[in-house]
Amino acid sequence: MNKTIARLFRRKPVQSMVDEAAAEQAAAGDHPTGTQGLRKVLTARDVFAAGLAAIIGTGIFILTGVAAHDHAGPAVILSFVIASVACAIVAFSYAELSSMIPVSGSAYTYTYATLGELFAWLIGWDLVLEYAVGASCVAVGWSAYLQSVLKTMGLALPAVLSKAPAHVPWPSVLAAVFCIVGGIMAYNGGRKIGNKLLGAAMAAIGLGCGIHAGMHIDSIDVLAIGIVGLLTLFLIRGVRESLKMTSVFVVIKLLVISIFIALGIGHVNPANLVPFMPFGLPGLLTGAAVVFFAYIGFDGVSTLAEECRDPQRDLPKGILGSLAVSTVLYILVALVTVGAVSYTALGGSAAAAPLAHVLELLDYKWAVPLLSVGALAGLTSVLIVSILAQSRVLMRMSKDGLLPPVFSRINAKTGTPRVGLIICAVVIATAAGLLNVSELALLTNIGTLAAFVLVCSGVVILRKKEPAWPRKFRCPGAPYLPIAGAVASFALMLCLPLDSWIRFFVWMGLGLIVYFAYSRKRSLLQKQQSD
Ligand code: ALA
Repeated sequence: MNKTIARLFRRKPVQSMVDEAAAEQAAAGDHPTGTQGLRKVLTARDVFAAGLAAIIGTGIFILTGVAAHDHAGPAVILSFVIASVACAIVAFSYAELSSMIPVSGSAYTYTYATLGELFAWLIGWDLVLEYAVGASCVAVGWSAYLQSVLKTMGLALPAVLSKAPAHVPWPSVLAAVFCIVGGIMAYNGGRKIGNKLLGAAMAAIGLGCGIHAGMHIDSIDVLAIGIVGLLTLFLIRGVRESLKMTSVFVVIKLLVISIFIALGIGHVNPANLVPFMPFGLPGLLTGAAVVFFAYIGFDGVSTLAEECRDPQRDLPKGILGSLAVSTVLYILVALVTVGAVSYTALGGSAAAAPLAHVLELLDYKWAVPLLSVGALAGLTSVLIVSILAQSRVLMRMSKDGLLPPVFSRINAKTGTPRVGLIICAVVIATAAGLLNVSELALLTNIGTLAAFVLVCSGVVILRKKEPAWPRKFRCPGAPYLPIAGAVASFALMLCLPLDSWIRFFVWMGLGLIVYFAYSRKRSLLQKQQSD
């Protein structure tokens, strides 16, 4: 193979990944407030709670109604089962790889060890669709939910502050984001006065472009932007503190979901389940592709590897445990939703808050505000883990030299990648303020599924290339089960509309440009291996 091409597919040895992470941890141990490694503070319970925090949110509280009404009918129960089987197979693959390579970076890290640098870069770039775009999508859902609650209290927001604009002046918006992010990076890129001046100048130009863009849009989702900003402030303060707050939200949403199931289960009427598949098999499968969003997040906890006390034991437990609990709850919620009322009642104005609508129809009006609290708590916790996961993946890519060093600089006081978090927040908040929820959700789904295909393939490749490497958790039925996981994920990708595929390819094309213009020359692996 041509030498230049071979360099693109150089794999990072598993041993060197593990050694690097250990060296960073040791450095952090020597300097408890140092700037090398993240703090190892998370226990198995924290990881399990983070999994539940990341999984249960928009999907169950909002998309269940759309999936039942528009696509699957009562068979939405089966759609949840199909999506859960696909996710369980993928979760086994994540569990094996996270027990083998306990390094933050998730699918990006695993792909670096299996398919080499170019694929790793592409999947790291693709994970922005899962975590950052996913976070924007949840922020928009959060805003819509809060607005529906405010409306019932007679406190409607003015239209200009309540939703994404009909038209977005993209050149000005992109110039603003580019200059603000570039300005933050330059300002934090070194102590030299030149860096500070360049950073301040770029940020000022960015602000100017932002104001110009603002003058040409007719509305903006101000609550979606606000919640991203607020949660980022908490995340900057420390991961343990943020996850403690998240645990409270997890308890609230689990309680509320349990109350919903307890109130509704006695009202399930078999007559509502007939006809079971009014839209046939295609409807059932599209329903599965839509509710797939509800399961996204179980993989996000693998980005916390370097913050776990015993990642090889705790990550598989956290990933599989949180997915199992969510699956049981989802199937029960779906059963109550389409069993207690007719699926035809879940369209129109009920689509924004279908579970609340079910409780209203069952005459449990007193429980409706409770459900709103549960939904807001659920969406908030998903947001926290998504922003956290995004910053950790970028941090890992930066440590490998593929992104600028500011993404991996850990703040001495808080032990978190502060600048990286702020940059993520700017991008997430911009998308959340300007795009609508369905565009964002489909893009998140396609990006996540692409990562799943590569992670499942990674298990098969590493079983061949590193058969003796210790694995505290082994995916059962390998290689057949991981191959089935890759095929199922790809099949779900094929169920998504052409628009999503076009956006996906445009995003990945942009990633290739960044790789060849910046990352390839700065890759630490390339430097080490050519020394
Ligand atoms: N699974 C997450 C949610 O449903 C992304 O909000």
